[in-house]
Amino acid sequence: MKTIIEPFRIKVVEPIRMTTREEREEILRRADFNLFRIHADDVLIDLLTDSGTGAMSSLQWSGVMKGDESYAGAKSWFVLEKSVRELTGFEHILPTHQGRASERILFELVGGPGKIVPNNSHFDTTRANIEHSGAKAVDLLIAEGRQPALRHPFKGNMDVGALERLIAEVGAASIPLVMLTVTNNSGGGQPVSLENIRAVRRVCDRHGLPLFLDACRFAENAYFIKRREPGQADRPVRAIVREMFDLCDGATISAKKDGLVNIGGLLLLRDANLVRRADELLILTEGFLTYGGLAGRDLEAMAQGFEEVVHEDYLQYRIRSTEYLGEKLLAAGVQIVEPPGGHAIYIDAAAFCSHIPPEHFPGQALVVGLYREAGIRACEIGSVMFGQGGRRPAMELVRLAIPRRVYTQSHIDYVIEAIAAVHARRAELRPLGIIEEPPSLRHFTARFRERA
Ligand code: F0G
Repeated sequence: MKTIIEPFRIKVVEPIRMTTREEREEILRRADFNLFRIHADDVLIDLLTDSGTGAMSSLQWSGVMKGDESYAGAKSWFVLEKSVRELTGFEHILPTHQGRASERILFELVGGPGKIVPNNSHFDTTRANIEHSGAKAVDLLIAEGRQPALRHPFKGNMDVGALERLIAEVGAASIPLVMLTVTNNSGGGQPVSLENIRAVRRVCDRHGLPLFLDACRFAENAYFIKRREPGQADRPVRAIVREMFDLCDGATISAKKDGLVNIGGLLLLRDANLVRRADELLILTEGFLTYGGLAGRDLEAMAQGFEEVVHEDYLQYRIRSTEYLGEKLLAAGVQIVEPPGGHAIYIDAAAFCSHIPPEHFPGQALVVGLYREAGIRACEIGSVMFGQGGRRPAMELVRLAIPRRVYTQSHIDYVIEAIAAVHARRAELRPLGIIEEPPSLRHFTARFRERA
C-alpha cells in the first residue's frame, strides 16, 4: 500500500469554531497583529507549536484514572521511572513540570559567570537559562544547517572542528558541558546523526567534558537516523534511542513533545554528586523527588507516552505527514527549510515576502496573511523573535509546527491550499511596524501596525 494512514482511530473530538474573513480581520486588528494575543478559540488550525498540544491515547487516558496522588513514593512515579529507565538506561531520573525547569536546575548547578556552553543550536529557553546563570551560550551548527534550500541528511549536526577550536580557545575548564539538541528546533527541526553524536562524544572524552542531550524530540531524531544513516535501517528505533542516550552523561527533556503529554519534563543524570545537588533544587522549586511539580496522573500519562512514541508505525506516520506538507509546499513554489524537519515545516519568509525588508518583519507579515486568509496560526522565527536591539537573525522563518496525532490529512490539505493561495498573491502581504514592545522576548506581547 502506498498510502500511510494515521495509525489510530478517533474516539473523542474537539469541535473547531469556524470564522469568516471579516471576523478574522477584526480579530487581527484587536490583537494588534500579534497572534499570541488572540483567543485560541478564534483559530481554525493551530500550528503555533507542537509542544503540549498533542492528543493522548486511550491507554494514556486510562493512566490518568490510575494516577496515584500520594505525596511521596506514589505508585505512578515508579511506573514512570521504570519506563524511562528501560528506554534511556539512565539510573537517576528527576521529574519536572516541563523542559525549562530541567534547564533551570541544570544551569543553576553548572552555569555561572565565565562559563561557556556549546550546543548545535540552543533553544530560546535553554539559552535564556544559561544566560540567566551568567554563562554564555554558543551555537556551533554545521554551515549547511544555516542555508534553507540546501539538502543534507543531518543538518542538525554540530561542527566538530568548531567545538575543538572553541575548547582550544577558551579552555576545557570554562566549559561545564557540551550539549546537542535533537532534533534541532531552532535550525528547522533537523536531526543529528549518530556519527555526529559519537564524534562529539570523542572530543568530550579527550577533554574530560560531559555531554548532554536536549532530548525533547529524541524519538523523531532516532527515526531519521534509522531512515537516513548508513547501517541503521535494520535497527529498532528503541535500540537507536538507547545508543543516543548511552553516549551521554545527562539529558534535559520536555515531555510535551516526544513524551506525548500536555505537561511534564525530565532531567536525566549520571554523576552522583550532581544528582544530590539537583535533588535539593528540585525539592526547593518543583516538588518532592517522586512527583517534581506534576500530578500522579501526569506521571502515568508520561510513562505511557514514552512507550508509544517509539512505535515505528507512529513515527512513520509522524515523519511522513510532516514531509507531505513540506513536499506540497515546495511543489507550489514555496521555499522551505529543506529537507522537511520532524515536527515542523519552516517557510523561508525572506523568499516568500521578497518585497518586505527585515526591519518590516516579512515573517510576521506572512503569519498575519495566513491567519487572515484561512484562520491558520503559525509562528514567526525571525526578526520579531530574534531581532530585538538591532540584532539580525541568520534566517527569516515562519514555523508550521504539527501537533502530534491531532490533525488529519484534510486539515493539512487545507493548510497547503491556503499557503498556495497566499503565495500566489504574496505581493499583497503588508509590511509591519512595531508600535509597542517589552524590553525582551517581544514576540509574545509586541503590538504591530500594518504599513501602507
Ligand atoms: N528545548 C527545545 C529544543 C524545545 O523545543 C523546547 C520547547 C524546550 C527545550 C523547552 O521546553 O517548553 O517544556 O519548557 N519548545 C516549544 C516550542 C516551546 O514551541 O518549540 P518546555
